[in-house]
Amino acid sequence: MPLNAVIAVDGPAGAGKSTVSQRLAERLGGVRLDTGAIYRAVALVALEGDISWEDGASLGRVAGELDLRFLPKEGGQRVQLGDRDITAEIRTPEVTRGASQVSKHAPVRAALLSLQRGLGAQGLVVAEGRDMGTAVFPDAPVKFFLTASAEVRAHRRWEELREAGAEQPFVKVLTDQRQRDRDDSQREESPLRQAPDAVEVDSTGLDIDQVVDHMAQTVREALNVGTT
Ligand code: DC
Repeated sequence: MPLNAVIAVDGPAGAGKSTVSQRLAERLGGVRLDTGAIYRAVALVALEGDISWEDGASLGRVAGELDLRFLPKEGGQRVQLGDRDITAEIRTPEVTRGASQVSKHAPVRAALLSLQRGLGAQGLVVAEGRDMGTAVFPDAPVKFFLTASAEVRAHRRWEELREAGAEQPFVKVLTDQRQRDRDDSQREESPLRQAPDAVEVDSTGLDIDQVVDHMAQTVREALNVGTT
């Protein structure tokens, strides 16, 4: 594997980006960059500081001052804000809704650009988000757009919540997700869009291993490296 390369993985909520990106990074000997966690951290700080979701300038300042680190842990990552572990807190429904709100502001996206690019320059990085291939890493040598049907995505999210002890009715999960899909793809700033040079991977009906196998193979062919 080349020492420095970004593999961009974009797609809508619930397409399986997190699990797939983590596994792909492990398979390729690289690290995963979870950019959704960065927007979630901005939302958490804003919630705690009573900053309005409409106050783009203040949210941009929060984003610019974010002291965020990702530390490896068994099978995943720990998200650290200063010396505080926020891994679980950024997954609550409230922060999830907030992350979608803060992400529509240009000052927030601008402030996070250099943070993301810095974190992307640490060897082989599988960067997952909504605008990796289109805005943050437009020169990434390999780009994926991961999709799945709306029902399959909502079902995965429903299961995730149930396992975390925060069960919600399936219809509510599906409705919330549709709203987020609309917000993410219709906002003016870096809307969710497939980069023209991205490889589309539809994970409906595939298990994670099949998806990761396919993506790892695509990376190796694109970067022209061996199959081990
Ligand atoms: O991937 P996620 O669900 O953790 O992302 C949380 C929110 O952040 C989501 O509503 C979209 C936004 N986001 C974004 O706008 N751009 C990114 N690169 C990553 C996430």
